Amino acid sequence: MVRWLGGGWGGGFWEGGPPSKQGLEPGLSPVFAEFLSHSFSVPELRFLFLNVLPDLTDRVLVDVGSRLGAVLFGGHVFSSASGLVGVELNQDFVTVQNQVIQKYGFEDRVQVVHSDICSQDSLVQNADVLVMNNVFEFFLEPPEQIRCWRFLVQNFRRKGSLLVTVPGLDESFRQIQEALPSDWLEELPVNYDLYLTSDSDQNDCFRQIHLYRVM
Ligand SMILES: C[S@@+](CC[C@H](N)C(=O)[O-])C[C@H]1O[C@@H](n2cnc3c(N)ncnc32)[C@H](O)[C@@H]1O
Repeated sequence: MVRWLGGGWGGGFWEGGPPSKQGLEPGLSPVFAEFLSHSFSVPELRFLFLNVLPDLTDRVLVDVGSRLGAVLFGGHVFSSASGLVGVELNQDFVTVQNQVIQKYGFEDRVQVVHSDICSQDSLVQNADVLVMNNVFEFFLEPPEQIRCWRFLVQNFRRKGSLLVTVPGLDESFRQIQEALPSDWLEELPVNYDLYLTSDSDQNDCFRQIHLYRVM
């Protein structure tokens, strides 16, 4: 599958340059290829819900930047979370997610909010798990990224709540030259070995998944 690395809807870059038409699956336009990317794959979702996170019964998970809803739908299939809430800036993606929710009857536990995460104080304060898969890196300018991270540092504070990030926080904070508060989170071990395969690209993706707990 073609891997789209950056830029959201306006000008990013393709790994190894833009794909030729022949590089796409038959019948797929480059636009559709973009729709397939920026999300966790099914193996990553299985790994996330079955191995990285604990049992989510009676817990609420918030996917920051839920895009096409992969985390929400994966959570519906692979976990018992009582609520799976996506927050997404882009109205087009919110519409697509709502169509899927309706089509597959996910309304019992899945919900999508069209919003900037920074307007969702109470949702973030009450979340048991936050998932952040490359949310800001490719979509926001550094000052905006700093604003979002400061909001999260201030509002995601409930002791014991879990944060899943791709990439690790050290990398995200280094890229925007922001100091990661030392009293906020502790990193928890993840057993990547369980899921490693002969596909080294896939293994690299698993190793990018980090788990933290609010102290
Ligand atoms: C890499 S995608 C996330 C993929 C998705 N969570 C998954 O793993 O399937 C990042 C998404 O975050 C959204 N986003 C970026 N900044 C945001 C913000 N401040 N609030 C809400 N959504 C945001 C972007 O529009 C984009 O759709």
